[in-house]
Amino acid sequence: MSVKIAPSILAADFANLERDSKMINASEADWFHIDIMDGVFVPNISFGMPVLAAIQKHAKKPLDVHLMIIDPDRYIETFADLGTTILTVHYEACNHLHRTLQKIKSCGMKAGVALNPHTPISSLNSIIQNIDLVCIMSVNPGFGGQSFIENTYAKVSELKELIQLHNSSCLIEIDGGVTDANAASLIRAGADVLVAGSYVFKAKNPAENIKLLKDL
Ligand code: DX5
Ligand code: ZN
Repeated sequence: MSVKIAPSILAADFANLERDSKMINASEADWFHIDIMDGVFVPNISFGMPVLAAIQKHAKKPLDVHLMIIDPDRYIETFADLGTTILTVHYEACNHLHRTLQKIKSCGMKAGVALNPHTPISSLNSIIQNIDLVCIMSVNPGFGGQSFIENTYAKVSELKELIQLHNSSCLIEIDGGVTDANAASLIRAGADVLVAGSYVFKAKNPAENIKLLKDL
């Protein structure tokens, strides 16, 4: 299976979301990665439901929604109604993660769990069977354009082992600082999905950079 590429809309031009969504539709990208921040779980506020609804009007590929918000259970149904395919919550933001994942699935979405850089893979030992996607944060969440944390490779390998141990089909997604300098090593370590914000949208030709990652 070739690696999936999920351009992060956080780095798009918010005054041209229709244009940038159409670029993703026409490119070799697989998903739209949508970062929702609440200014509490992370020290930044990105955008909320009305903007997601606007993107959804143009997007022709699955919406991969990454919630960086406290108490995400409050909005699970809302994100389902907005056309989300994969809903990812933070391990650190959920007191009852098993219940949250069940609720996401009962609303017809795939359930993802994101781990901050300081959260060990072993935190998922008792819940991995219930997860469709683990998002390993390779930067501290909250902002685009940060540099990649090198310890990520070791976490990807460890997670791959855990997934294989459980015979699970859970996908491994990497989010933060992904470029052509680290993507090949991430894929070798076991990454299935690469999120890329700045690397795609700050490029002269975003679709070409998507293709560069896709063809690795
Ligand atoms: C960071 C977000 C990322 C971000 C990645 O909190 O979760 O999805 O947009 O941006 P880059 O690729 O620029 O690090
Ligand atoms: Zn993200």
